[in-house]
Amino acid sequence: MKNSLPVILILLIFLLPNTACQKPATEKKDVKAVLSENALQGKLIFEKNKCSRCHIKGEEHMQVIEGREVLVPDLTNPFIAGDSLFVRAHLRFVEETDMPPIKLTDKEIQLVSTYVAELHASLQPAIPASEADAVCPVCGALVSSRQAKEKDNWFEYLGMTYYFECSACKDVFIRAPEAYKTTP
Ligand code: HEC
Repeated sequence: MKNSLPVILILLIFLLPNTACQKPATEKKDVKAVLSENALQGKLIFEKNKCSRCHIKGEEHMQVIEGREVLVPDLTNPFIAGDSLFVRAHLRFVEETDMPPIKLTDKEIQLVSTYVAELHASLQPAIPASEADAVCPVCGALVSSRQAKEKDNWFEYLGMTYYFECSACKDVFIRAPEAYKTTP
């Protein structure tokens, strides 16, 4: 098959530059594909405990729970999802909540938190590192203490001043400061 060599070469010349120029398809990121091993385990726990019976992906809504109509948050909203510590704190520390208690072990809470966090973790907005001089104790984002002061996103607890990434983080902190305080 001596004669086929030039044909192959010509084909290669045509094909190579084309493939090199091909950009990767800009498809919507498939979240399932990027879940870590721990998050996948957390997903199973989420499904087993029927969390999605109340927490509907992408939808905050009113629902009758134990005879009362209450607001059920969407756990996959970027704020909640980006913050596994918050999910953990809610499941462990928050006593006054409209959510019926669900018994999970520490390990299960950790895994389910990782799952919720990874769902939208990439959506957390960031500020440039050069402007940051604090870290939000709730979501772990870099924070400018000056900007946080301006927006009233700060709080004093046990003699320490905390700066938050957003007002939602501040609300979360105030609900369960013990879960987030840094011991001096
Ligand atoms: C019977 C319905 C129901 C089920 C099942 C349920 N939740 Fe909830 N959940 C709620 C309600 C209602 C709230 C709002 C409570 C509040 O604001 O105090 C809530 C709040 C939360 C919050 C705090 C979110 C926020 O914005 O304050 C987290 C985290 C959470 N749930 C996680 C879970 C996980 C994980 C599971 C499964 C193990 C689960 N929930 C199962 C009803 C439910």
